[in-house]
Amino acid sequence: MSEAKGDFILQMKDIDMFFPGVKALQGARFNLKPGEIHSLMGENGAGKSTLVKVLTGVYEKTNGQIYYDGRYITPHSPLESQQMGISTVYQEVNLCANLTVAENIYIGREPRGRFGAIDWGTMSAQASRLLSEKLGLDIDVDKVLNFYPVAMQQMIAIARAIDTKCKILILDEPTSSLSDRETERLFKIMRQLKADGISIIFISHFLEQIYTICDRITVLRDGHYIGEYETRDLPRIQLISKMMGKEVDENQIESNVDKSRPSEENFIETEAVTVPGKVNSLSMSIKKGEVVGFAGLLGSGRTEIAEMLFGITPGTSGTIKVDGVEVSVKSPMDQMMNRLAFCPEDRKVQAVVGDLSVRENIILALQAKDGMFRHMPRARQNELADYYIDLLRIKVSDREQRLKNLSGGNQQKVIIARWLATEPNLLILDEPTRGIDVGTKSEIEALAVRLAKEKGMSVVFISGEMGEMVRTCSRLLIIRDHEKITELRDSEISTAHIMQAIAGDYHGSN
Ligand SMILES: Nc1ncnc2c1ncn2[C@@H]1O[C@H](COP(=O)(O)OP(=O)(O)OP(=O)(O)O)[C@@H](O)[C@H]1O
Ligand SMILES: [Mg+2]
Repeated sequence: MSEAKGDFILQMKDIDMFFPGVKALQGARFNLKPGEIHSLMGENGAGKSTLVKVLTGVYEKTNGQIYYDGRYITPHSPLESQQMGISTVYQEVNLCANLTVAENIYIGREPRGRFGAIDWGTMSAQASRLLSEKLGLDIDVDKVLNFYPVAMQQMIAIARAIDTKCKILILDEPTSSLSDRETERLFKIMRQLKADGISIIFISHFLEQIYTICDRITVLRDGHYIGEYETRDLPRIQLISKMMGKEVDENQIESNVDKSRPSEENFIETEAVTVPGKVNSLSMSIKKGEVVGFAGLLGSGRTEIAEMLFGITPGTSGTIKVDGVEVSVKSPMDQMMNRLAFCPEDRKVQAVVGDLSVRENIILALQAKDGMFRHMPRARQNELADYYIDLLRIKVSDREQRLKNLSGGNQQKVIIARWLATEPNLLILDEPTRGIDVGTKSEIEALAVRLAKEKGMSVVFISGEMGEMVRTCSRLLIIRDHEKITELRDSEISTAHIMQAIAGDYHGSN
């Protein structure tokens, strides 16, 4: 034990974490210096979240030692680790949906009055001040958490974590649902905390963010420690090779996939469809075998258009044609019958059924469409599940594993599989690669294009990452203020043109 160094606030050594049938960590190591921002990197399922949970006592490690703040510790519970000065924002937002924002921030440490009763007024006032001063958010803290969208809930979880005095702050994919502006704010806070000597563990699949904010990087692969590096000494391409365990050709990542060549026939057309406050008189069409992107800033109405197309919030005026025939769309079921599928953005909240197995999750939408009472033979279910596990490289011990025991990124892949299994004619993917590691990201992009090319599927691709849209889409609808303002196609599609078009300075050839 003598080698424990004063240079580190935290050292984790030879950490094993075994679940039934899964060796999530094997001999993992992690060294954290005081006042550094340190990224844990690795593909989906590499063991990042597990390492965090071993540190915070969510899991009791199978083997290994943890040296923290001058002594060896054995964390037993998240509460205990928090009391020791380790503050955590877990990958899955674990706040209470039915409590107010203020209650969520102060749960377990409520301000109390003279007779020990909770001082609600002070609590609300403190919560408001915290959110507005630290995060620039002016929201009603007496509303229940559920009232706010996921990105806001994420910010609230962050506010709670930074408000408790800590020596280590752990952020496990905090930015996966944040806008660029919100991420900037978070980075500003992280820099302040760092200046105060606090160490931060930051997990994200956005390489850009890692290179902006992190001093050092530790890479995990398949539960093993691969190495630790100064960020400035580790070129991106090498980081990716270390994560994937193979040499990566730079061109492979940057190059355009060969795009789809749509047929002449439209699959879906809309004529002046309006959803009050959400979609303003939208006229557009999508051809069979075409990959179309909806580009626009967060809040521009990209997702609202998708929700209108799928019947979640049906239009109140205008017409929709599917395969040339006018259809009445009142609910998602109508559109499922018309062979549309929608893989939503907030997958964690809207779509994941954690207690069901991977197999059950994959067949869920198909089963709903076929009617709950038409039982699908088990052999067929197994076949479908195995096919998609293989196609999307979903990391599972077997198809009966419960979904909640999969890593975050692998859960997302299961949801994508669920919609692919319905063999739709139009697949709407809203932010399909958020939280997905770089290797698989390019596979999902390629998959969208391949489905269009080989199966004639129409695909709507919605992403805040312009590079992703440029790589995959043969046409883009530019959305601003809930309206389509122009379209870009083929060679016009570039990051620069998208930005100009959103700003209103480029109008394309339409
Ligand atoms: N409670 C559990 N029971 C069984 N297996 C688990 C459990 N938690 C995690 N695992 C498995 O451990 C492995 C590592 O998962 P972990 O969540 O640490 O990955 P990760 O690196 O955080 O991935 P992601 O980038 O997708 O979030 C995965 O194979 C996962 O299925
Ligand atoms: Mg994780």
